[in-house]
Amino acid sequence: MENSTLGILVMAAGKGTRMKSGLPKVLLPILDKPMLGYLLETVSNCGPDGVAVLVGHEGEQVCDYLKAFPGVEPLWQREQLGTGHAVQAARGWWERFDHVLVLNGDLPLLSLATLRSFLGEHFEAKAACSLLSFVTEHPEGYGRVIRGPGGDGGGVTIVEHKDASPEQRLVRAVNAGCYIFEVKELSLVIDRIKNDNAQGEYYLPDAVALMSQAGLKVRGSVADEEEASGVNTQAELAAMTLRVRNALAESWMAKGVRILDPSAVWIGPDVELAPDVSLMPGVQIWGKSVVGEGSLVGPYCILRNARLGRRVCLTAHVVVEDSVLCDEAKAGPFAYIREGSLLKDRAFAGKFVELKKTTVGENSKIPHLSYMGDAVLGENVNIGAGSVTCNYDGKNKFPTTIGDRCFVGSDTMMVAPVVLGDDSATAAGSTITADVPAGALAVGRARQKNIEGWASRKHQMGK
Ligand code: UD1
Ligand code: CA
Repeated sequence: MENSTLGILVMAAGKGTRMKSGLPKVLLPILDKPMLGYLLETVSNCGPDGVAVLVGHEGEQVCDYLKAFPGVEPLWQREQLGTGHAVQAARGWWERFDHVLVLNGDLPLLSLATLRSFLGEHFEAKAACSLLSFVTEHPEGYGRVIRGPGGDGGGVTIVEHKDASPEQRLVRAVNAGCYIFEVKELSLVIDRIKNDNAQGEYYLPDAVALMSQAGLKVRGSVADEEEASGVNTQAELAAMTLRVRNALAESWMAKGVRILDPSAVWIGPDVELAPDVSLMPGVQIWGKSVVGEGSLVGPYCILRNARLGRRVCLTAHVVVEDSVLCDEAKAGPFAYIREGSLLKDRAFAGKFVELKKTTVGENSKIPHLSYMGDAVLGENVNIGAGSVTCNYDGKNKFPTTIGDRCFVGSDTMMVAPVVLGDDSATAAGSTITADVPAGALAVGRARQKNIEGWASRKHQMGK
């Protein structure tokens, strides 16, 4: 193996008809990551000299996704006439290597260990072709691995489910859709594949049979069903997602994360959790979220690209998107923190509070029923219940700046752009349309008038 080169070709041009989705099958997500992403990460880690992905059906979308994998080349298969046709279409790419590993794109759970031993066994046996198979009680839909006389290497054919006889359908050894070919031998057979079968397609597995018939060394490795089964239906996708979810929860618990009910928590594959994080039931953490040591994520919180420092407390029902909560910040219950907001150390956003592109300084509090958008709050600020930054005039957004130690009275409307100087205050119910100097009290409301005897006069009029 030392001196020979290896290309890895992932076939992802098919439609995935059975998924009944507008998205190409390989972009359907497992948790919040497209299934192709899992496979590409695994194959990139087994030291190939090149990786390419065949795209076709909704290929532009797949190409867009591939931009996240700079080393991976997209190759087009404009018409999808079968897996054999796909590999023919990529011939100009794989002919530069000594060996090519070809995989179905719908093998997200194939592990690095399995791939490594599959490759190791292929090179050790000096085989012309190696085929990965698995044994299943539910072989429907898969190609059956049929061995002719002569034992290992002697006459291997793969018969697709639709072409199989009732007797062949009883075979439980099936093709996983993962092959290694010696390139010089593959070049000799790839154009000899025919499409005279039940589906009128060019089948890549026929290349295996052609090599076998030519007397070349064709061998097999057997994988775990859990890893090697493809994804063909939404139900299979859901079952696979559940397996990935459970495995992730277990690995986080092994690293010291407390999960009260692992069956009720969803953690995306790109999330990072520190030891002593506690996750309550109903929590979902997605994207590139990071949760620091000792933080509590209470019931039904949803985090997406959130960064939580140490000992942060999200009481319950808090949604955090693309925002940062520093050490010992608190939020909830029922807070929505979004679009680049920042809560500095010990800041607090409480009940029914929405923050958008807002920075809340150290020790500042927004305890109840407030909206702060495009605002910067200094340290030790207190925002009274029901206060709002009026940041939008229907066309443009404007900033609000609130200085250190400000006391904003309940139900203050701050009509942006507006600046409240340090140590200033607003009277409850004020509408603030002009800047408030440092240390001043702003009263922006009508003076109260009491009408004496009103109730008894009303009572009299009613008679
Ligand atoms: C294929 C195998 C079958 C095996 C099974 C394992 C063939 C003919 N059969 O069947 O033996 O048991 O996988 O899951 O290969 N693709 C293309 N271009 C095409 C057609 C398909 O790129 O023209 C891609 C698809 O996107 C997919 C992969 O090839 O990732 C396999 O295609 P699929 O249609 O799922 O093959 P199966 O019928 O499942
Ligand atoms: Ca398949």
